[in-house]
Parts: sequence; structure tokens; C-alpha cells
Amino acid sequence: MELFTLATILALAHFTLPLLYYRHMGGYLRRPWGLRTNPGHVPRVSVVVPIHNEADVVWEKLDDIYRQDYPKGMLEVVIVDSGSTDGSPQRVLEYASRRPDLRVVLVHEPVRRGKALALNAALSRASGDLVVVTDADSLWAGSDTLRRLASIFSDPSVGSVSCVKIPQGGGPGGVEEAYRRYYNVLRVGESRAYSTPVFHGELAAFRRSLLEELGGFPTYTGSDDSHTATLIALRGYRSVVVEDLVCAESLPRRGYALWRARRAQHLVQHFAHVLRHVPRAKGVFRLILLAEAYLHLLNPWLLVAALALLLIAAARDPLPPAAALAAGLALLAYRPYRTWIASQLFLILGALMNLGGKGDVWKKVPKARP
Ligand code: GDD
Ligand code: MN
Repeated sequence: MELFTLATILALAHFTLPLLYYRHMGGYLRRPWGLRTNPGHVPRVSVVVPIHNEADVVWEKLDDIYRQDYPKGMLEVVIVDSGSTDGSPQRVLEYASRRPDLRVVLVHEPVRRGKALALNAALSRASGDLVVVTDADSLWAGSDTLRRLASIFSDPSVGSVSCVKIPQGGGPGGVEEAYRRYYNVLRVGESRAYSTPVFHGELAAFRRSLLEELGGFPTYTGSDDSHTATLIALRGYRSVVVEDLVCAESLPRRGYALWRARRAQHLVQHFAHVLRHVPRAKGVFRLILLAEAYLHLLNPWLLVAALALLLIAAARDPLPPAAALAAGLALLAYRPYRTWIASQLFLILGALMNLGGKGDVWKKVPKARP
């Protein structure tokens, strides 16, 4: 086969398969959840906040939890600090002394060993029926977030719940905003179909009993939240991202690309582990796991392969490859396409970063406050 033809086929597969999956999952947005929820359900909740050098934001975070219209008697906050050098734990204690009606537990790890190990240290101190993990640099959209969350867990088939994400700002070229819009559709579509394998650290809630059955948060992937949700779904419980639970997230002031690449790096680890579980996934969840593993692990490389073939083909007959490349570049003016290409680059970069180690301990990226 002509190299140029082969490149075209690979590029077509690269762009078409995700679109088909997106259309398919988007169809589930009109389907009912199939859950029986009770808005009056008020279980005991442990909100777990892992922190490493979050002195600037930890008060705001605690305030966000404090303002929840959830009975304080049913709520505790477990902060796990690992090796902060900016006075974060002191800020937490100061906050706690001003709000004696909020139960705050501070767990201290002298040495930073990564978020997943920190979460496990927090888990051993958490007493709630639900464990709600939330990053220090994120805020929940409403003061009814915990109440809504708890009501979803009133259905015994639900094992874990996460939010949709709204970035505070578009990101460079508007790509973060567009990426989130696309991603949120997939997350909610998959959740309505059965369960989604991608959770968000801004709000990732689990039944404590299930976390204990799993032996805590897995430490072999950087995506502790997504991997835990997937393991729970494989046990037959729903792991859902719900559209009326909304989290706001600040974007990095600089270093956006590296930040995205590190997150992609962790998702790549997650889906590499997911592969071995695909055979025991049932029904539509098998399709979801297969499709998402394909999208994260393989599909970006079709684009790389197509590009490489184009370049080789150009040595023989430069015109068709040059025209194809020029069209590909011109399309970057179109935001959905630009967003897609950027995400592919981050996935490729993330996969390559895995060659240098798991990246359990990452550099804090300074965020722009909204
Ligand atoms: N205790 C503790 N120990 N906390 C940590 C550590 C650690 O080693 N590393 C990071 N954290 C805390 C941060 O202080 C923050 O509250 C939260 O974990 C998330 O870290 P960020 O630095 O804000 O990273 P992010 O927003 O890019 O992380 C996202 O992707 C990660 C996977 O790459 C989030 O979704 C994370 O939840 C997710 O694990
Ligand atoms: Mn963050």
C-alpha cells in the first residue's frame, strides 16, 4: 500500500473512532440514571484533604467545607499534611481553633511520599461512612454539594461518586475549557450507562467499607481516584460522575503543558493497569474500559505513526503530504480540533514521562486564583 494512503487510514481512524465513541456515550445523557435516591439521607462523612504546601489556599478550602449545609455532627475533616515547609499545618490548626463546631483531624506525615500514601494515612483516621477526598486548590460550586452527594449514596448500588469540572478560565488557546466540556460529556454518559473509569480529585467520594475491602487507595498508579473508582465498579457497584455536582478548579499561572502532561502520565498508568481487568468487566462497562484504554494508550500513537509515514512519503512525492500537513496546521485555528491535538500531545508526553518513573511526588504548580 502507498505510504500516503496508509497515513490517511491511520489519521482517519485516529479522529473517527473517538468521535463515534463520543456520539455513542453522548446518547446516554438522555437515559435515566436508574438510581433510587433519598434526599434526606445523612450518613457520617469524612472529608479528606491531602496537602503539601497549601498554606495560601487551605483556609479557603476549609471555609468551603464549613459552609456546607450538612449537619456538623455528621461531618469531620481529616487533613493529611506531608512534609509542608510553608506553615500549612499551623494554618489548619489556627482555622480549627476558630471553628470549634467543626471536627478537624490533622494527620502529619514528616516526609512526603505522594498523595496515595497520604490518603491511606488519612483513611486509617477517618470514621465516616463516606470518605470524600478533595484537593486543597479546588472549590465546590454550592453549599449543598455534600448533601446532594450523600443523597446519591442512599442507593446501595452506588460505590463511589465524583463531580464534573469547570475550569476557572479557558487555559491557553481556550483548550482547557473545551477539553473539559468534551470530557464531562463522556464522564456523565459513561456514568449513566453504568460507571466511568475517570474520577476527579476535586471531589472523589467512596464508601469507606469498600475502600477497606480494597485495602486502601492503590499506590501503584498516580491516578488514585480513578483507579479506586474503577476497582469499585468492577466489583459491581456504580462509580458515577454526576452533572449536578460541580467543582471549580484554578488553572496554573504557568507550566500548563507540563501540568496536563503529568495528569496524562497518571491516566496512562491507570489505563495500563485497567487492561488486565477488561475481561472480567461486564456488559457496557467492558466497552467503556476498552474504549477509554484505547483512547488513552493507543489512539494518540496512530497520529504519531500517520505523521511519521507522511514525512517518509514526502521524500518520494512531497506534494500530497505537504498539503495534508498544511491542512492539519490550518485547522488549529478551530478550537475543538486544537483542543484535541493538544490532548494527544499531552498523552504522548505523559506516556514518555512514564519511562522516567511513576512521578508519585510532583512539583506544585502555582495556580491563578479566580
Ligand atoms: N499529603 C499530601 N502528600 N498531599 C499531596 C501530595 C503528597 O505527597 N502531593 C500532592 N498533594 C495534594 C496537594 O496539596 C493538593 O491538595 C492535591 O494533593 C492535588 O495536588 P495538585 O498539586 O493540586 O495536583 P493536580 O491538581 O494537578 O492533581 C490532579 O491530578 C492528580 C493526578 O495527576 C488531581 O486530580 C489529583 O487529585 C490527582 O491525584
Ligand atoms: Mn490541583
